[in-house]
Amino acid sequence: MARITLRQLLDHAAERGYGVPAFNINNMEQGLAIMEAAAACDAPVIIQASRGARAYANDIMLAKMIDALEEMYPQIPLCLHLDHGNEEATCATAIRFGFTSVMMDGSLKADAKTAAGYDYNVDITRRVVEMAHWVGASVEGELGVLGSLEHGGGEQEDGHGAEGQLSHDQLLTDPDQAVDFVRATKVDALAIAMGTSHGAYKFTRKPDGEILAMRVVEEIHTRLPNTHLVMHGSSSVPQPLQEMFNQFGGEMPQTWGVPVEEIVRGIRHGVRKVNIDTDCRLAMAAAFRKVAVQARSEFDPRKFLKPAMDALRELCRDRFEQFGTAGNAGKIKVVPLPEMAKRYRAGALDPQIGKMTQAA
Ligand code: G3H
Ligand code: 13P
Ligand code: ZN
Repeated sequence: MARITLRQLLDHAAERGYGVPAFNINNMEQGLAIMEAAAACDAPVIIQASRGARAYANDIMLAKMIDALEEMYPQIPLCLHLDHGNEEATCATAIRFGFTSVMMDGSLKADAKTAAGYDYNVDITRRVVEMAHWVGASVEGELGVLGSLEHGGGEQEDGHGAEGQLSHDQLLTDPDQAVDFVRATKVDALAIAMGTSHGAYKFTRKPDGEILAMRVVEEIHTRLPNTHLVMHGSSSVPQPLQEMFNQFGGEMPQTWGVPVEEIVRGIRHGVRKVNIDTDCRLAMAAAFRKVAVQARSEFDPRKFLKPAMDALRELCRDRFEQFGTAGNAGKIKVVPLPEMAKRYRAGALDPQIGKMTQAA
């Protein structure tokens, strides 16, 4: 069994200079495709479930599905992470269902729409860190609000995201405040805002430094070299997938995502977790459309799902290779949660003090 915490996995990634994609799932087919890709290239895995995914699939179903994947792929360290937890209870119940890591997104209030103040964010994130660390689970916090530097809007595509107009101060994480935030909360990983947003419509042109502020990543990494940084909204929305989606009856206006080379640049500057959901959705949806158009009499769902899984597996494998995740699964000796809890209690995992060594 290889259920790993986010903290241990990202410490390993930092020691060896690689990044780990965090793929969102909602169903069995996505879980299988991700694990098949990981097994094919010996990559450790972060599977994340949003509140929407938990409501869609049910916590019991998700938990048992992850148990099954773990049993099928015992050689692959698997971190199960809660994406965008909105309050303490959401994080606590996730841990109860076997999540080894949670995100407490205190950049927004519990309604997941209203931008929250700094003190609120510190307070709620610190409380979740205390609770999670008692049992050895990891916590990702977020400072800065995700949204577009092009038009100043948050993103509402998935019903999660700030409403209304945001200032540049809100849309770009302040490096000094990041230092204060990590010290005050003791988060294991920090999501930062630099112009990325969720969904397919991130940029209206190929992004440059004006609208994708990778310099912010570099500045924060200089001040917090031991803190694992997280990039949300990191789908690349690949042109070939947009074209395939449209070729088979889809209607997606031309759009740009985060180029893989910019993510790789981030990985050189402390980015360890890279959140990808939209690309996975698009890869599967384009494959569904192709079957629907090319085999109009087809009604067996497996005939739609199999090519969709193939497309997702290929996408995941590509990201494992590009981010340097491939080849690392076998090098990790998983530390169980109770041992992680002991280390937190002993103060050995304070992000300001140093990184955990891989010795169990
Ligand atoms: O947080 C954004 C992810 O894309 C999850 O989306 O809430 O529709 O599952 P979702
Ligand atoms: P994308 O919409 O770019 O895939 O981002 C997903 C994400 O950040 C989930 O937290
Ligand atoms: Zn996100």
